[in-house]
Amino acid sequence: MSVKNDKRLAAEAAVAEVQDGMVVGLGTGSTAAFAVAALGLRVAGGLRVQAVATSEATAEAARAAGIAVLDFADCAAVDLAIDGADEIDARLWAIKGAGGAMLREKAVAAAARRFVVTADGSKRVDAIGGAKVPVEVLPFARSFVVAQLEALGAAVTVRSGYRTDNDNLVADCRFRDMSDPRGLAASIAAIPGALGHGLFLDEVDVAYVASGGKVLKLER
Ligand code: A5P
Repeated sequence: MSVKNDKRLAAEAAVAEVQDGMVVGLGTGSTAAFAVAALGLRVAGGLRVQAVATSEATAEAARAAGIAVLDFADCAAVDLAIDGADEIDARLWAIKGAGGAMLREKAVAAAARRFVVTADGSKRVDAIGGAKVPVEVLPFARSFVVAQLEALGAAVTVRSGYRTDNDNLVADCRFRDMSDPRGLAASIAAIPGALGHGLFLDEVDVAYVASGGKVLKLER
């Protein structure tokens, strides 16, 4: 039973929720890639869906899998979005964005009537906070935003030579104190030039977490 197999099983459980006619949000990362593949198979079998993608890489993979991809700019609502996570806890609070796509991911998750996280068991934690929190940063305001994040208690590393699909920077933040993720999320969101962050506290409706070949469904 490999981690890869668990990612695939979790992704397939989420894709089983997709119904004919839905607009589906497609996440980014290795687990989300299994969801794209599984959805592609269902489309090949006759399922009619349209998708919005949270990254250029996912859009490309979805098209290659035969899935019609809409521009999210033209799409106010999504029926079901499926995405991975770096950490997920029992409250269904998640940290996302190791792949750098958290800003688009959060917009699509927020637009979704139902947001489903898929993960292998290594992502399940008692309380989120072990993973770094990625923050998308306007390059113009880089030093200011980094100083503000440091003032919030973070050790900050700006990803070297990396730009998001929105042509912004990513600052990975290891916070000394993660006891109040909600307060932290509000403080990060209030920094001008911090365009988004990887704390997902209100978005997740359900998570499929697979370990040792068994899928567990976590719900609010
Ligand atoms: C992408 O920006 C991330 O939010 C991913 O969803 C997250 O990092 C999980 O990725 P894996 O499924 O590759 O672990």
